[in-house]
Parts: sequence; structure tokens; C-alpha cells
Amino acid sequence: MNTTMTIDELHWWDLTEIAEHDARIFGPTAWTLGYYWAVMAQNGTAMFKAGTTSAGSGSTADVALAGWVVMSCAGGEADLMTIATTEAARGQGIGRALLDTGLDWARIQGAEVVHLEVDERNASARALYTSHGFEEWGRRPDYYPGADAVLMRARL
Ligand SMILES: CC(C)(COP(=O)(O)OP(=O)(O)OC[C@H]1O[C@@H](n2cnc3c(N)ncnc32)[C@H](O)[C@@H]1OP(=O)(O)O)[C@@H](O)C(=O)NCCC(=O)NCCS
Repeated sequence: MNTTMTIDELHWWDLTEIAEHDARIFGPTAWTLGYYWAVMAQNGTAMFKAGTTSAGSGSTADVALAGWVVMSCAGGEADLMTIATTEAARGQGIGRALLDTGLDWARIQGAEVVHLEVDERNASARALYTSHGFEEWGRRPDYYPGADAVLMRARL
């Protein structure tokens, strides 16, 4: 079955479903629904979602949430605050497409550099970031339960 993928701005009514996925994916470091609301309300943030639609279904009700990315930008510097794809949607290029969308948004805001932090054990995310030009420049020891945060940045 063919599926198509779309990326759109994320709306407040998407946040409950996203927070539920977030809790399953990130466990003790997940963002709460309240935190998502607070970030959405901040100036200088942007949230995008990926959805997949199966061929033959024209209804928007059939679009399944596949992932999301949250960015912030101020003073020429952007942060990749969080990014994830749902478990069912992994390995299909959706994370790459979401990251491209977030980086394009940061460029439009005038950012010259993008920062992020990632769990040192998270091989798939680190590979995704490295393939987009991110380089490690530091570490926060024991930032996550039992692991360092790797600090990465990319010039836009
Ligand atoms: C990291 C994550 C967003 C990647 O999303 P995805 O949709 O599966 O990624 P894509 O299919 O677009 O793959 C893009 C690149 O990511 C890397 N990657 C993805 N899955 C990987 C895996 N299992 N092992 C190693 N690298 C992997 C590869 O570099 C891949 O490029 P390639 O296909 O050319 O090899 C996804 O695994 C995820 O949501 N993980 C849980 C949440 C998370 O860790 N977020 C990051 C927090 S810092």
C-alpha cells in the first residue's frame, strides 16, 4: 500500500496525542502536555508535525501522526528542542524530513547556527544529526539518567 507523507505546522489540538507518544518514547525525560503548551506559547518557537496518509483515503481523518519537531530561535541562534518519529513510522525518511523542515525554519528566522543536545547512547539520532552537518563540541556529564548529553551544533 502506498503512503504519502506531509509536513505541516502543528496545532494546539495535536498536543495531547503528541504528549502521549512523547511519554512512551522518552520515558522519564518526556515533555509533559503542560510543557508542550508552555513552549507553544513562547515567542520564537515553531512546531511541525509529519503525517502519513494511505493511498485511497482522501479524508484528513485518515492522516496518522508520524512525527514532530520543535525549534526555537533568538538572536541568530536556533535550538532543536525535540524531534521524534512514532515507533511505527521509523526508518522511512520522516525524521530526516522533519529535521530539514526545522533547519529551513531556522534559516528563515535568520539563524546562523543550530544547537542541540542528545543522549550519548542514542545512535540513530546522532547519525541523523551528523548526516546533517552537526558536530560534537562538548558534553554535559550525567545530564540524562546514567548517560552524558552530547552537545552538537551546525552552521546554517
Ligand atoms: C532519531 C529519529 C527521530 C530518527 O527518525 P527516523 O524517521 O527513523 O529517521 P529516518 O528514517 O529519516 O533516517 C534518517 C537518518 O537517521 C539515522 N538513523 C535512523 N534510524 C537509525 C538506526 N536505527 N540506526 C542508525 N541510524 C539511524 C540514519 O543516519 C538515517 O539516514 P540513512 O537512512 O541515510 O541511513 C527516531 O529514531 C526517533 O524518533 N527516535 C526516538 C526519539 C529520539 O531519540 N529523538 C531524538 C532526541 S535528541
